[in-house]
Amino acid sequence: MNNKVTMNKLQKTQIAPNKHLKTIEKLFSSNMFPAYGQLATVTENNIPQVRTVHFRYLKAYQELMFPTHIESQKWHQLKNKTLSGCYFSSRHLIQVRWEATPIFVDQSITEHQNERNIVWKKMRKDIKRAYWTDFNNEKGISPEEFKINSPCPSMGIIICNTYAWDIWKLNATDYSKSKRFIYRLIDGEWHATKSSPLYSKTKHNNSDWGKNE
Ligand SMILES: Cc1cc2nc3c(=O)[nH]c(=O)nc-3n(C[C@H](O)[C@H](O)[C@H](O)COP(=O)(O)O)c2cc1C
Repeated sequence: MNNKVTMNKLQKTQIAPNKHLKTIEKLFSSNMFPAYGQLATVTENNIPQVRTVHFRYLKAYQELMFPTHIESQKWHQLKNKTLSGCYFSSRHLIQVRWEATPIFVDQSITEHQNERNIVWKKMRKDIKRAYWTDFNNEKGISPEEFKINSPCPSMGIIICNTYAWDIWKLNATDYSKSKRFIYRLIDGEWHATKSSPLYSKTKHNNSDWGKNE
């Protein structure tokens, strides 16, 4: 992954090409079918690490994000780095991969607190409780002393400031008819390249996809 300067302010360009915004919304906004996707980071020693997180798209803000503990490995590993995400929807037969500059929103960041509050509100009660009891234990406070509706200080969100997408629509009976497009953001505009479902030949200036071809 490329090194990128950490940003806390989102530069507002559309998070995905126009023609895929509805797809992004469909994949990442459902409460009934949560988008449990994979988030990749690298360690200090360049060892890749991947784990599942719950990605959410907030339509009102046109932002893709996930919640996490501000002491987690991923929070630290993403400082001054870019992130890679991947999600396959078996309902819609679409794989989306993206690269993004992370925007870290903990309770001290005034921008994006609305989104942090919304994500907290949408989280399951047992997860909220897990955050609060852990927080209270760490602080030596009675584990039950919290207001479940207030976002726990240890919960942050990471907003994906996307600059590359790989959108792959699977043809379930004829693999070669699957449709794959790679997009990257250049000077505020999304540029598309049609790609084989087997491999990509695209050379990206600001993305590692296709770098070795
Ligand atoms: C279905 C599922 C959903 C998860 N969602 C999240 C999430 O939204 N945020 C998160 O930080 N961890 C989530 N986790 C836990 C992570 O996969 C991971 O184990 C944990 O965050 C520690 O990761 P780290 O030490 O690499 O930071 C989820 C795990 C599963 C199985």
